[in-house]
Parts: sequence; C-alpha cells; structure tokens
Amino acid sequence: MRIPEKIGKYRLISELGAGAMGVVFKAQQDVISRVVAIKLLPDEAERGDPALVKRFRNEALAAAKVIHPNLVTVYGVGNDVGFHFIAMEYVEGKPLDATVQTEKWSLSDLLSMCIQAARGIAAAHSVGIIHRDMKPKNIMYDQEGLVKVLDFGIARIGEDSLLTKVGTIMGSPPYMSPEQARGEHVDARTDIFSFGVVMYEVLTGVRPFTAPDTRTMILERQKLKNPPPVVSILNREVPWYIDRIVSKCLYGDPRKRYQTVKALVDDLLLAQYLLDSNRVACTVLADVCKKAAENSFCIPWKRIGRTLLAALLFFLLCILAMAPQVSMAFLLALLVPLFTLELFKVRRFVKGMVDRQVEKEIRSKQKKKAPVAS
Ligand SMILES: Nc1ncnc2c1ncn2[C@@H]1O[C@H](COP(=O)(O)OP(=O)(O)O)[C@@H](O)[C@H]1O
Ligand SMILES: [Mg+2]
Repeated sequence: MRIPEKIGKYRLISELGAGAMGVVFKAQQDVISRVVAIKLLPDEAERGDPALVKRFRNEALAAAKVIHPNLVTVYGVGNDVGFHFIAMEYVEGKPLDATVQTEKWSLSDLLSMCIQAARGIAAAHSVGIIHRDMKPKNIMYDQEGLVKVLDFGIARIGEDSLLTKVGTIMGSPPYMSPEQARGEHVDARTDIFSFGVVMYEVLTGVRPFTAPDTRTMILERQKLKNPPPVVSILNREVPWYIDRIVSKCLYGDPRKRYQTVKALVDDLLLAQYLLDSNRVACTVLADVCKKAAENSFCIPWKRIGRTLLAALLFFLLCILAMAPQVSMAFLLALLVPLFTLELFKVRRFVKGMVDRQVEKEIRSKQKKKAPVAS
C-alpha cells in the first residue's frame, strides 16, 4: 500500500500498526497541532464494493456521534488522495491483554478496567452499534488505568467478504462467539461473549480457549456449549461472584448469557462494591484489634455485633440479588434454627403464664382458707 505524506488536514507521523482492514498512523492535525490516529482503508476497497465503503462511512459517522469517556472519539471520516480514512482520538497505551496481570494492578484495579470497557461497549450498544471484533487490541489502557474501546462501528467492515483478504479468517478466533464462528446473524450478545474472553484473560493471565491451530479453534467454538473452568481456579484471589459474572458471559447459547451489557455492568459494579467493602472491613477490623491491644480500651462488643448483623443482612441482600437459589437455601438454613429457638421461647412463655395462673389460684384458695383458720 502506497502511503501519502498528508491526508486531508492531517500530516502522517508514524505507523502505529496494521490490521485486517488497513493501516493505522499517528498523525498531526494542521493549525491546532492535535495528535490523532488515522486509519487508512486499502485503495482497492472502493473498486471492490462502493456500497460497502458507503456503509463504512455511515457507521463511522454513527460512531462519531457517541461521545463517552471509555470510547475512542471518532473525529470524522474523509476521502483524500485516493484513500478513505477515519480520524480518531490517539490513545497512548497498551492493549488490555494477559500482560496486564503481571503489572502493578490489584484485583480491584483490574475489575475497574473491565467495568470501564463494559461501560464503553454499553454506550455504543445504546445507539445500536455492535462491535463484532472485541479483543484486547481494540481495548487499550494507560498508566492511570483509564480504558478506551477502539474501532466501534469500524470493525463491521471486516466481516464483509469483499474486503476480506483471501485465506484470512475475519474476527479473532480466540475471542469469537460461537454464533459468529458458525457465520450466523449476530447481535449485541456476541460482544458480551468476546468481552467475557477478554475479562477471563485480564483476571487470570491466560486465554480460556486454546487449540493447536485456528481451524480447530473455530470448529471447537462452533460447538461450544458450556463456559470454561471458572476464573478462580487460576487466580485464587478472585471471589465466587466474579467467577459467576465471567462464566455467564461465556455460555455457547446466547440466551444463557447476559442479555445486555448494561446488566453486565450492573453486576460488575456490585462485585466491585463487595470486593472493596470486604477489603475495607478487613483493614478496619485489623486496625481496631491493633488499637485495642495497644491501648487496652474496652471493646464496644454491642456496636460491633450490630455492625456485623447489618453487614450479614446486607450480604444476604446482595446474594439475593445475584443468586436467588443460593440465598434461599442460606436463608432457610438460618431461619429454621431461629424459628425453632423462637418456638422454645414461646413454649417457655406459655408455661410461665400457666404456672403464674396456677400460683394465683393456689394463693386465692389459701386466702379463702385463712379466715376459717383464725
Ligand atoms: N486510536 C488509536 N490510537 C492509538 N493506536 C491505535 C489506535 N487505533 C489503532 N491503533 C493501533 O494500531 C493497531 C492496528 O489497528 P487496527 O487496524 O484496528 O487493527 P487491529 O485492531 O486488528 O490490531 C492496533 O493494534 C493499535 O495498536
Ligand atoms: Mg483495532
């Protein structure tokens, strides 16, 4: 592909990488000197299928309307010196892949990155744009842990055969949903599956699906039914409620997955709350115990008891929201002994009443007898 020095009002600086659809460049905008990323479509695109290029433009323009902190902003689309191009926000960062596991981030940080990416995806879905090529290379994060999703409304073009390079499988097999691997119609739930694979990788450092070659991987994906082993098998730090969220994204049947990314975001936020409150509780309790030992002051057992009871109730409510069957079993296990205890108390109370009645009767009999005796 011949590369122009300047395209529209952008001066190309250096190549950032090449994808299935073209090459991405770092560029500088004239006059305002803003650094941007320019994606160039191969020149043969228009000759191949003009309708396709029109749709590419329309989708890129639709993506340009979605402004969200976790989505790369599309500045515009254009056509100059024989190239179709997209100008977008330049992201300085790394792809959100397995390497993030080896860095400084805590589990809470990693979860926060997943939440940001999911929020970006939800924002695009809310205006009807499906990504179809969700993979770490299209989700980038920077030094501060700020996450941006790239290529919304752009990835779609890769699905069309006329732009497909011969012998290349479009989409990314490790992240592809079963319905996409079978070549069926896809909806927003395909992005949920692919994002589940990304979360799995982020939380464990390994990919959930492996195969000796791409062909085997696609064939296996087409037949996939159940999610892979839970995340916590590979990362013991991960609690069960995060296991459940990731697994729910990775069912072969789209009906068993989250139906919307918004529902996924809600569960991820709840998981983050539980994770953070658990961490705070542990820290505070350790601190209280240390202070108590140092100062030997009187520990307010009643207050601690009440707080623990409130925490238990809150925990139960959370389980009720996330896993109704588990919480019902838990509640029954808790309520049956309490109920039995209450029954004992009622029995004792009734017995006490009867005893008092009997005592009264005996007293009144004794009183009646007393004058006779005197
Ligand atoms: N907006 C952007 N800012 C910075 N780098 C980008 C941007 N868009 C794409 N890139 C880089 O260019 C590479 C090629 O992008 P792309 O053509 O979308 O292919 P793919 O996503 O399949 O790798 C990406 O891997 C990424 O590193
Ligand atoms: Mg990309």
